[in-house]
Amino acid sequence: MEKLAVQGGRPLTGSLRIQGSKNAALPILAATVLAEGHYSIQDVPHLTDISVMLQILTALGAKYTHQDSSVSLDTTSLSSSHIPQHLMGQMRSSIFLMGPLLAKFGEVKVYPPGGCAIGERKIDLHLQGLEALGAQVFENEDHIYCVADQLKGADIKLAYPSVGATENIMMAATLAKGKTIIRNAAKEPEIIDLQEFLNGMGANVCGAGTSVIEIEGVHRLKATGYRVIPDRIVAGTMILAASMTKGDLRLENVKFEHISPLVKIVKECGVEIDHTHDIININSRSLVGSIPFLETGPYPHFPTDMQAQLMAFLSLSSGTSTIRETVFDGRFQHVQQLKKMGARIQTNRNEAIIHGSSTYQGAQVEATDLRAGAALVLAGLAATGTTIITKIHHIDRGYQQIEKQLQQVGASIKRIREET
Ligand code: EPZ
Repeated sequence: MEKLAVQGGRPLTGSLRIQGSKNAALPILAATVLAEGHYSIQDVPHLTDISVMLQILTALGAKYTHQDSSVSLDTTSLSSSHIPQHLMGQMRSSIFLMGPLLAKFGEVKVYPPGGCAIGERKIDLHLQGLEALGAQVFENEDHIYCVADQLKGADIKLAYPSVGATENIMMAATLAKGKTIIRNAAKEPEIIDLQEFLNGMGANVCGAGTSVIEIEGVHRLKATGYRVIPDRIVAGTMILAASMTKGDLRLENVKFEHISPLVKIVKECGVEIDHTHDIININSRSLVGSIPFLETGPYPHFPTDMQAQLMAFLSLSSGTSTIRETVFDGRFQHVQQLKKMGARIQTNRNEAIIHGSSTYQGAQVEATDLRAGAALVLAGLAATGTTIITKIHHIDRGYQQIEKQLQQVGASIKRIREET
């Protein structure tokens, strides 16, 4: 098992380029199933989730190389639509392949998706969307089988603006006969990125970023090249890292409009942040201020993927803050770990009350999921003494060599490989 050892108390200084977005790259890679050919996709980070998606595509018959951050993918010999069970269970995002495989091959067999322990990860909205497009869905205890001779456009209203369900339906609808409308669609920036990629393949999608997306089905799509948007959650995480260590950090490759909800909060707590084009400068001398009440929610509300990291930050600032988590029903596993390091947090169902002006002491803690792990790294960077973080495979799902990124800007952090 690998661990991270973080020696706290060093301000982050210098500059860092933000990696491409995991949550944009994953559906875009899944969409390559829709057309045979050679794809060149830039700014794809090296993450375990990306590697699992590429292994699944290989198991379906594709070939790829992933050099630096560019993926070359050849799907000309893609032939199967049955995702291997051992790969499916490793990552929830494998569910993104249902729509494209169904549209391309007329059938798909998947197993219950894996993923983080951040609450029940249902897929009912995905299945309802595919059924609305004319698919027959057969579920049993160990797998799901969908079949459709020809998908037909439909007017679909999502009960919840699910990111994955929106993406799955968008991809399936590109090859359906006729027009599809997705109402109450998710509006995340990653949805817009998928629309741009699909239209680059010759699809006819519009409205991404609003709650109504329209897709006019076409007969065929073609392979294309694309550059993935920056990862707004990694950018937000690094902004908090600089703020919590009273650093002076420059971040490159950031879309400011994607992280403005977080910037507003951090500025209210005394951190100086300015930006020009795709560069953000963070200068933090003292953290003063609290957030009386904040609710996570679908974009453009505060992102659930930043909730754990913000909690780690607010513990250091002054005053008492309250966060309500409305997206996932189990996303407070980081609280117990942060408390081991000195945070003073009380939870009551989906609300957490964070008592500020705490200080972190180094401790041995466990990453319970991807963003919880990131929050523990942040606390370790600000702590007195050394923090040992275990189960860091969760962190490697979303942050490319997190210790190397942080070493580059002055952190004292290293990866320990322990013989098990
Ligand atoms: C995407 O997950 C992201 N993952 C998640 O990021 C992110 O937390 C989430 O969107 C919300 O923004 C990727 O894009 C790969 P949802 P997804 O469907 O699509 C319920 C990270 O840290 N729901 O919007 O799985 C569900 O239970 C990860 O990078 C249903 O009820 O999220 C949850 O409560 C973690 N039925 C809520 O909707 C469904 O069919 C939001 O889920 C689907 C979802």
